Amino acid sequence: MLRHSVLISITVLLLSCANDDGPADSYDPAHDYFSFANTEQFVMRHLELNLDVDFSAEQMRGHAILHMTVLDATATEIVLDTRDLNIEQVSFLAGDGTRTTAQYRFGESDAVMGTPLIIHVPAGTVQQSELSVRLDYETSPESSALQWLPPELTAGGKQPLVFSQSQAIHARSWVPLQDTPAVRFTYDAMITTPTELLAVMSANNDPLTPRGGEYRFEMPQPIPSYLLAIAVGNFYFAPLGKDTGVYTEPELLDASAYEFADTQDMLDAAEKQFGPYRWGRYDLLVLPPSFPYGGMENPRLSFITPSLLAGDRSLVSVVAHELAHSWSGNLVSNATWRDGWLNEGVTSYLEARLMEIIYDNDRVDEERVIGYEELLLNFDFVPIEQQPLAPRFDTGDPDDFQGTIAYHKGQLFLQFLENEYGRETFDSFLASYFDEFAFQTITTEVFVDYLDANLLQSQPGIVSRQQVEQWMYEPGLPDDAPIPRSSTLDGAASSARAWALGETDVQDIPVAEWSPQAMVHFLNSLPADLGSDRLRNLDEALGLSETRNAEIGRTWFIQVAQRRYEPAYEKLQEYLNRYGRTRLVKPVYAAMAANGQDRELANSMFAAARSQYHPITIAAISRVLLSAHD
Ligand code: BES
Ligand code: ZN
Repeated sequence: MLRHSVLISITVLLLSCANDDGPADSYDPAHDYFSFANTEQFVMRHLELNLDVDFSAEQMRGHAILHMTVLDATATEIVLDTRDLNIEQVSFLAGDGTRTTAQYRFGESDAVMGTPLIIHVPAGTVQQSELSVRLDYETSPESSALQWLPPELTAGGKQPLVFSQSQAIHARSWVPLQDTPAVRFTYDAMITTPTELLAVMSANNDPLTPRGGEYRFEMPQPIPSYLLAIAVGNFYFAPLGKDTGVYTEPELLDASAYEFADTQDMLDAAEKQFGPYRWGRYDLLVLPPSFPYGGMENPRLSFITPSLLAGDRSLVSVVAHELAHSWSGNLVSNATWRDGWLNEGVTSYLEARLMEIIYDNDRVDEERVIGYEELLLNFDFVPIEQQPLAPRFDTGDPDDFQGTIAYHKGQLFLQFLENEYGRETFDSFLASYFDEFAFQTITTEVFVDYLDANLLQSQPGIVSRQQVEQWMYEPGLPDDAPIPRSSTLDGAASSARAWALGETDVQDIPVAEWSPQAMVHFLNSLPADLGSDRLRNLDEALGLSETRNAEIGRTWFIQVAQRRYEPAYEKLQEYLNRYGRTRLVKPVYAAMAANGQDRELANSMFAAARSQYHPITIAAISRVLLSAHD
């Protein structure tokens, strides 16, 4: 027996040695496979940015000073992440400000990760445990984080505008740094812009700042690089509450102030529920339609898509979501993108809790069901090895990973714990979790150990560690996962069936009583085999092609493409031109490319709309158009 196992070990050893890549499976879940930075030797603690924003060249130009802690005094190189940066000079800064030129070179580029910048550290450079490096550089007009909008793509049509989107790994395309959430740093910045424009950052924006083209920022709380953010445009401010407000172009200011009027209440509710808000002010920045996401939780200043401006506050769960990231994500951050559920899953759960406080339970149940159904759909196309909450993740692109599994499966996992332990116990667990790991970056395994010690074991016999591990490391859902229910959505689904069977007339569908979410569910509940005349009947009666609600439009136009309902193609194209948010447009292109006949058309509509989209959206659509085969 003993001999046998020794033999097995030797075989395993031989096999792994035979593999040039080292041991057969040396995957380290705590390692960030999407950064080149040698963070075991140096970690940045503070960033000083000094950038001039040049709209005519579509470049930012200036310098970054990285103040680093030296963890390994024998290290001979600092490796930073970059993408498409033109580095002009690198120097070491001594305490008295004197500069010594440093030698540097670029390593091999990678399509997803960009290019490592390798700075030589001569023996004797590291005198103390701190090292400061200054990089003089400029961004490229192709920077994947930045979108440079000409005036005609803004609401006002007169001034240009630029904004960043750093998550997941795009910060490196506008600042050379250690682009991994494992490292947190504070920053300050000096930004120069055309005098008539306003610069804002994920930092201490002062609503009363006068214009003039010179803006100073400080971010005293340590953040990971993906939360570094900037926008410059013809922005104005409207207060929403005592610590909250909204920035946007003047043309959208009133509509934004109306739509997001509940933001202060959300903030107050969140503090009461999850512990103190530790970031100072909480403001929103409503960007032009090409902003690639619904929202981005840039600290102190969430970036928001204008597609939420439905006029009826029906889409503000996105604001609740971005605000909730001030705890889950910004305060306690995922160590690597493989732990993304710690950001997105926990936040989706908090989002629903906040929405329940501000609005009614029915509405939130509807949103839970819609998320759940999206999750079930995701299980049909997301590869099985990406379905665990904490899967192996060492290849591919963090922007294109796991569909929305981290969001909805993560939310369901927390809902499961809440159901098992009761709200009160679970809430106090969450508040202590945020407190324990405030301003830290953690892996799934650290979370599981904390959960085990502070909930599973303190309330024994309710949930086992093995159950938790099934959520973390197994695909699909455990048998005892909660199933969200909504009676209003059940009603919408039966209306869909009854109408499709010809039992009711379109005029009898009680749309006037429905939320936009119910309309989305109604559309998703229609059978596959509806003919064009039936679709026309629906479209004319419900005004689907004309809808100004971006989520209803999304659902409708996906169906238009899947069903090849050509009479609505013109409106479909208008929709694709109106929005640039990836969630809204990508699935419509994907449905066209997959319907067997419209790949060419999808390509030509994309070619026509492309110049309006953000680089991240362009990359995402290009991937689906390339991967879809007739
Ligand atoms: N942090 C995300 C956006 C993100 C995720 C950017 C991954 C890059 C990589 C943001 O908080 C988010 O989740 N936005 C959602 C809205 C939310 C309500 C589901 C979106 O944009 O749809
Ligand atoms: Zn999020």
